[in-house]
Amino acid sequence: MLLIFEKSRRDSNKMNIPPADVDPVDITQTIGEEYLRAGELPLPDVNEVEAVRHYTALSKRAYGVDDGFYPLGSCTMKYNPKIDEWTARLPGLAGLHPYQPVETVQGALQIMHETGQWLCEITGMDEFTLQPAAGAHGEMTGVMMIKAYHRKRGDEGRNTMLVPDSAHGTNPATANVVGYKVVEVKSDERGLVDLEDLKSKLGPHVAGLMLTNPNTLGLFEENILEISRLVHESGGLLYYDGANLNAIMGIARPGDMGFDVVHVNLHKTFGTPHGGGGPGSGPVGVKKHLAEFLPVPRVVQRGEQYLLDYDYPDSIGKVKEFYGNFGVIVKAYTYMRALGGEGLKEASRHAVLNANYVKHHLRDEYHIPFDRLCKHEFVATARHQMDASKVSALDVAKSLLDYGYHPPTIYFPLIVREALMIEPPETESRERLDDFIAVMKEIARAARENPEQVKSAPHHTVVRRLDEVKAARTPLVRWEETENA
Ligand SMILES: Cc1ncc(COP(=O)(O)O)c(C=O)c1O
Repeated sequence: MLLIFEKSRRDSNKMNIPPADVDPVDITQTIGEEYLRAGELPLPDVNEVEAVRHYTALSKRAYGVDDGFYPLGSCTMKYNPKIDEWTARLPGLAGLHPYQPVETVQGALQIMHETGQWLCEITGMDEFTLQPAAGAHGEMTGVMMIKAYHRKRGDEGRNTMLVPDSAHGTNPATANVVGYKVVEVKSDERGLVDLEDLKSKLGPHVAGLMLTNPNTLGLFEENILEISRLVHESGGLLYYDGANLNAIMGIARPGDMGFDVVHVNLHKTFGTPHGGGGPGSGPVGVKKHLAEFLPVPRVVQRGEQYLLDYDYPDSIGKVKEFYGNFGVIVKAYTYMRALGGEGLKEASRHAVLNANYVKHHLRDEYHIPFDRLCKHEFVATARHQMDASKVSALDVAKSLLDYGYHPPTIYFPLIVREALMIEPPETESRERLDDFIAVMKEIARAARENPEQVKSAPHHTVVRRLDEVKAARTPLVRWEETENA
């Protein structure tokens, strides 16, 4: 397919723009001369119908939750009910300006306030901020609050954050960005935090432990109460990476497990699909002893009025312009209101049921390293296929494309060799899951009987197998006029 720049023909765009009826502005008053464009703006010259066709054709090449099953473990490509989109686009919400006086945006503030209250109820925390724009951003906000907490108590020697070896990469990255030394805690043979290893790493230098529950293997940390006791007894705090909350919402609460800070991925648990370049939202909840450090402004209710309150001297400050990604918050609010408490519980139960159903039916063909009741996702591997015919997890993933399925996450968590991390969201029907299972079995059969077919997949996609190392190391994502003209 040609790039739109390659379709460009001088003067094809006959659009008439009426002459400006305002005086020109001298832009150099606000932007330095050095930032002004020197030459002509190299926009492609195509007429309207060709531009529409170009982008329509491109959109048909994309794959999303509205196209098919998307079992991307840890990413939770959840179906976003269309009513969520509808409310987020209501002109009274989508058309608001963040600089509007608060008395004109009372409804929006009410939505934010109630979303925070619902999240408190679901997670068992006392207060929430909706500012962070993603899970990783929520982690940063939460860990900054942990730091502020220790600092305020004069406990400045705590320079280390503990992170399990199964953790999502954003956990150690966050701790590092906030200035902590990261120390890894090992998993035991059951895929859970190794208590002995944890004990040996705790001490007066430890600020806290970042934990995902269920963890990235889809397993519930059964010793969470003991872990919480150990961390708190040594003076540390417990951080909950709530990216996997969709496995337990309405059933178990991180606040009751002893967590002091949690972040929630609204774009995973509450409707909006993860990824896809769209905005996310990673609200952070805290227990009372950390509330004074929450970012400002906080949305508060005084009588009948909702206000933006900046008066928190120990706040870590602002972590995002304005008040968070409001559109995603509206979608999450709609999702929660539409499902209600029972509905949210049901969503978690279905996510867990679907994951266990698929795991059960794949265990004869694929190696399942931790084969017991899982939560919303599980890890299978291509180890049998690799050992028998050198077919890798990547080959299985590429083969799925030929059947019209998006592959699961591969090679994560890092502690599992040839990992295929499968998360079938709660909205998938039994028929869809059965079809996916049949396709996975068919790929396993092909790996046995005709490994070359799997190793050279995909065969029926628009582009075949790409040089992924080159794409990652030397990405060429800009069109250069001189090269292509
Ligand atoms: C367990 C876990 N933690 C943290 C994150 C980070 O979330 P985000 O991608 O919104 O930054 C993810 C993302 O998928 C995750 O799966």
